[in-house]
Amino acid sequence: MSNPYTIKDIRAMEILDSRGNPTIQVEVLTKEAYGRAMVPSGVSTGKYEAVELRDNDPKRFHGRGVLQALKNISTIIGPAIIGKDAREQRAIDTIMLQLDGTHNKSNLGANAILGVSLAVAKVAADTGIQHLFEYLAQREEYVLPVPMMNILNGGAHAGNDLSIQEFMIMPFGFDDFHRALRAGIEVYQTLGKVLAQKYGPPGKNIGDEGGYAPPIQNTREALDAIIIAIEQEGYKPGKEIGLALDAAATGFHSQGGYAVDGRHLSTQDLFDFYRELSKEYPLISIEDPFEENDFESFAQLTQLIGQSVQIVGDDIFVSNSARLQRGIDMGAANSLLLKVNQVGTLTEAREAAKLAGSNGYTVIVSHRSGETENTFIADLSVALSCGQIKTGAPARGERTAKYNRLIKINQDLGDKGRYAGDQFRKFKVN
Ligand code: PGA
Ligand code: ZN
Repeated sequence: MSNPYTIKDIRAMEILDSRGNPTIQVEVLTKEAYGRAMVPSGVSTGKYEAVELRDNDPKRFHGRGVLQALKNISTIIGPAIIGKDAREQRAIDTIMLQLDGTHNKSNLGANAILGVSLAVAKVAADTGIQHLFEYLAQREEYVLPVPMMNILNGGAHAGNDLSIQEFMIMPFGFDDFHRALRAGIEVYQTLGKVLAQKYGPPGKNIGDEGGYAPPIQNTREALDAIIIAIEQEGYKPGKEIGLALDAAATGFHSQGGYAVDGRHLSTQDLFDFYRELSKEYPLISIEDPFEENDFESFAQLTQLIGQSVQIVGDDIFVSNSARLQRGIDMGAANSLLLKVNQVGTLTEAREAAKLAGSNGYTVIVSHRSGETENTFIADLSVALSCGQIKTGAPARGERTAKYNRLIKINQDLGDKGRYAGDQFRKFKVN
C-alpha cells in the first residue's frame, strides 16, 4: 500500500496580510489531505531576523510583492520535497536550509521556507486526522497559555507619540483559559470607553495589533488608563491581571541613548525608568527593554528585577539559537519570544524553544504585527505547553482567529487541558 503521508504536490500563492501587504500561502497535499499555512510579517523587525524575500518591483504592491518567493517554492523547494514523507519535518526543513545555502535564508526567502515548513506539519496532522497541537506533541496534559493581550499600541504600530510599542494585560489569576480571556476582553472594551472619555473620539482609534492608539505621549498616562479599566471592571490589578510591556527599544534608540516620551534618556536613565515603573505598577513582564545589540544592559536588568519581572528577548534573540545562547551565557533576559518567521523553519523554532527551556528561560509564542487568519501559533503554544502566547488585542479577525482557536482547543481538551494561570513562569519547554 502506498504511504498516505507522501507529499504529492505543493502549491503557493500570493495572498494578503492584515496590513494589505502581499504574503505567501502554501498548500501541501498528500493523497487524501491538504495542509495550509500563511506567513506573517513584522514591521518592528529585528536586524538579525531571517530575510523575508520581497520583489522590490515598484510597479506591484509598492515593491512588496512575493512572486520571486513563490517561484522559489514551485521551481526549487517543491521538486525537492514532493515524494517525501510529510512527518519527516526535520529532514524536510534541512533540505530547504541546504537548498538555500545562506545563514539568513536570503536566497530562497525565509517567507518561502516558512510557508512550506508550517504547511508540511499541517498536512501531516491532517493526514493522520489529528489536531495540529496533538500531532506536534503527544502529552498527558496540555497547558493553555496566559494571553499577553496588547490593548494599547504605540511605537511603530500606531500613529501616536508613545515610545513604548505595546501595553499588554496578562489575565493570569483565573482557573480557566476562557474565563481569563473574558476578563481581558472586558478590560479591553472598558479601556476604549475610558480613553474616549479622556481624549475624545480619537482615543478609541486602533493600531496594527488591535490595541487602542490614543493621542497619549506619556508611558505612565497609558498605564494609568489601563489600571482604571481593570478596576472599573472589578478585577484586581496584580492579583488577577498583570501588566506587560514590549518596549521594542530599538525603535526609539537614538544618538547613543533613547528618546522616550519626548525626553532623551541615557541607558542608565532608561534602566531607572523601568525600575521605577516596576515599583509603581503591577508590571510582570518587559520585552526588549534595550536595543537589540545591548546584551549587557539586558543582563543587568535581568539581574536586578528578573525575579519579579520577566525580561523577554525578541529583537535581541530573533528566535535564533545562536543569539539565544549568547544571551544565556551572559544572563541576558529570562524569556524567549518565539516568532516562527524570525528564524524560518518549524524545526529551528522548536530547537530555540528547547534551548530556552533547558536553560530556565520561559517561552512566549508570538504573532507578528502583520498577520493572517492562520492559527498555527495557537496550536504551537499548546503543543509546547510553554504557558504564554502573545497575539494582540481581542479585536481584528487576524488576532481573534488565534483566540478563537484557543477557545476551541480548551473546550476539546476538557480535563486534558489546564490553564497556566499564575504558574505561567514555571512552565519550561522540554
Ligand atoms: P513586529 O512587532 O511583528 O512588528 O516585529 C511585534 C513585536 O515587536 O513583538
Ligand atoms: Zn517585540
